[in-house]
Amino acid sequence: MKIKNIAILTSGGDAPGMNAAIRAITRYALGQNINVFGVNRGYTGLRNGDIFQMNLRTVSDILHRGGTILYSARDSEFLSENGVKQAVETCNKNEIDVVVAIGGNGTLNGIKKLSDMGIKCMFVPASIDNDMPYTEYAIGFDTATNTAVEMVDKIRDTTQSHEKCSVVEVMGRHCGDIALFTGISVGAIAIIVPEIECDFEKDVIERIKITKNLGKRHFIVIVSENCFDSSKIAKSIEEKTGVQTRCTILGHVQRGGSPTIRDRVVASLMGCKVVDNILDKKFNKAIALRCDKVINIDIDEALKCKKNIDLNLYIHALQISI
Ligand code: F6P
Repeated sequence: MKIKNIAILTSGGDAPGMNAAIRAITRYALGQNINVFGVNRGYTGLRNGDIFQMNLRTVSDILHRGGTILYSARDSEFLSENGVKQAVETCNKNEIDVVVAIGGNGTLNGIKKLSDMGIKCMFVPASIDNDMPYTEYAIGFDTATNTAVEMVDKIRDTTQSHEKCSVVEVMGRHCGDIALFTGISVGAIAIIVPEIECDFEKDVIERIKITKNLGKRHFIVIVSENCFDSSKIAKSIEEKTGVQTRCTILGHVQRGGSPTIRDRVVASLMGCKVVDNILDKKFNKAIALRCDKVINIDIDEALKCKKNIDLNLYIHALQISI
């Protein structure tokens, strides 16, 4: 059976590099005489039939842009029986042979539902949180972490001048990767992540007091969102150590911006892998990066994997921040 039409959607929190993936899939597929359709606003657009045909120029000038030209949405209705049925109807009506979804864990759950209904699917991981258990890397993480580091470097300048402590909250939902990689890159005195229990007195207060006695004059504490109330932490550090402390919540700045080289390259290669699979008639695959290689995993297998934090990185980050 020849694949004639494919549809691409982006869903969940956007991630820099999504556009690079859309571009790669579109251009490679068109070159193989496969028609490409874009779906607006993720699964919402798939339910509502908000779909349009793309050409080589639809994806011009987007490789370097953050966000997604296809827009994104979090669509809880899609997970209902009726929601998936509506999506299947859109696929049938438009003769879509394969749906390619680009997104995070929620998007992967959605694509599993669609594949269970008999639609051929492909999945590309994109999440600034890097919280997808089945792949070592998700598109957007490098850009988000570089943004976080750039912001903390700026905060650090003023923290140093005034000999203060800065508590900086980064994104991550329930995954500490942004905090961990930012923490080691900025020399944080403490890194608070959801995967590792934090003894506030020992891991934060004691470390500040000890290193202060060793001559350290300014301090950065990185907190992953949803772990603690960061402003309360800042207040408590000031009270218990006597070091003036300020709190900054970085927020959505981490989700935007031009993708880094790593994100452009990984997104482009993952996009090409999708089309390679389609040409080889391999479907219902999640694309992954493992040991720096772009590979496929069955969507069912991908959903069974568990994510671990890099404990080694955490231990070393703290050993050298004294
Ligand atoms: O998953 C990406 C992410 O930015 C998380 O880090 C964060 O918890 C969440 O999305 C925020 O989502 P929203 O912008 O929908 O509030």
